[in-house]
Amino acid sequence: MNNDPAYNANIIVTNKLEDELGKILTRYPQDKIFLVTEENCDQFCVPLINHTPGFEHFKKVVIPSGEENKKLSSVEMIWLFLSQNGADRKSLVVNLGGGMLTDLGSFAASTIKRGMDFVNIPTTLLAQVDASVGGKTGFNFNGLKNEIGVINQPNTVLIDTRFLQTIDSQNFISGYAEMIKHGLINSVDHLEEVRNYNLANPDLEVLRGIIARSVAIKDFFVFKDPNERNIRKALNFGHTIGHAFESAALYSGKPILHGYAVAYGIIAELYLSHKVCNLPLTVLNELSDWLISVYGKYTIDERQFEAFYQLMTHDKKNEGTRVNFTLIPAVGEVAINQNCDKALIFKALEYYKKLSI
Ligand SMILES: NC(=O)c1ccc[n+]([C@@H]2O[C@H](COP(=O)([O-])OP(=O)(O)OC[C@H]3O[C@@H](n4cnc5c(N)ncnc54)[C@H](O)[C@@H]3O)[C@@H](O)[C@H]2O)c1
Ligand SMILES: [Zn+2]
Repeated sequence: MNNDPAYNANIIVTNKLEDELGKILTRYPQDKIFLVTEENCDQFCVPLINHTPGFEHFKKVVIPSGEENKKLSSVEMIWLFLSQNGADRKSLVVNLGGGMLTDLGSFAASTIKRGMDFVNIPTTLLAQVDASVGGKTGFNFNGLKNEIGVINQPNTVLIDTRFLQTIDSQNFISGYAEMIKHGLINSVDHLEEVRNYNLANPDLEVLRGIIARSVAIKDFFVFKDPNERNIRKALNFGHTIGHAFESAALYSGKPILHGYAVAYGIIAELYLSHKVCNLPLTVLNELSDWLISVYGKYTIDERQFEAFYQLMTHDKKNEGTRVNFTLIPAVGEVAINQNCDKALIFKALEYYKKLSI
């Protein structure tokens, strides 16, 4: 067996994708299998699965690519396609794409006819280690990211690194940030293997094992706390300040990829971890230098600190003027619900700003 099973049995990391998908398809009537994908994946990814036995006569809907299409009209397109083609509660939806598509397709499948089975086949590194797993589904609405959605677990997630042959290096490095995060919050060993991975010359066979271990860490937290009442918040490490970077870049008209924003957020939150949870200074500095060497630096100045802080306080998870963070006392350990005040957050931004490239 070449499978590298992750923590949860329904996450399958494989280089025998068609065999695994074929096994799942046998459980459904052939005319009740529906493929949901987007334009780029229709071109680059569908050819890797369309010879799967049982998939010969599949019906397919292709939505436009890109985050700007993660919207209600795309969900409607999927609902309409399913509805007009006789989908019912015995049907299977196969979502093939990056995180944009798996979020949308999972939401559409979760809501039509009060929910039908769906399988995610993630095609970007970010989707393979993060978005396709954990059951968060939804779309952007009223200018707000993931404003509408439900939590509903996929029946199976099938992960094959061959899809990553065609993604660009920026999207690759973006997904890599979530693997770094998994190492930081849960495992010194995983952080080391992620760090030792040769980004300049990616070996997708080697990556398969690393992805399996990374996604198992995400699944571990999801399994313990699916609705994010407590320990699932560990996965937010780097994201509170990271989202502020992401939003600021978007408002400035020069959007940055999610993983880059998370990497910048991780640096600032490592600083908070040092101040609040005694993460050693040597570890903070060493990790910051490494992250800067991989992700470069986003330029900020003091005049933006207030706007960054406002973006953080608008996060629905906060109370009053303090901001709720997930921090790490040491690599591999996590402390949730750490409140930090404005002055300390400004210091963290100051630390980030002063780092040299
Ligand atoms: N549900 C969750 O828990 C969760 C977690 C993290 C992120 N997300 C969501 O994921 C989305 C970001 O995911 P993403 O980074 O995968 O973005 P994406 O799905 O937009 O994909 C990035 C780009 O790569 C292209 N692409 C995808 N697969 C490809 C392939 N194999 N070859 C060539 N091109 C390919 C896409 O068309 C797109 O242009 C966001 O909407 C975010 O909100 C969800
Ligand atoms: Zn993220």
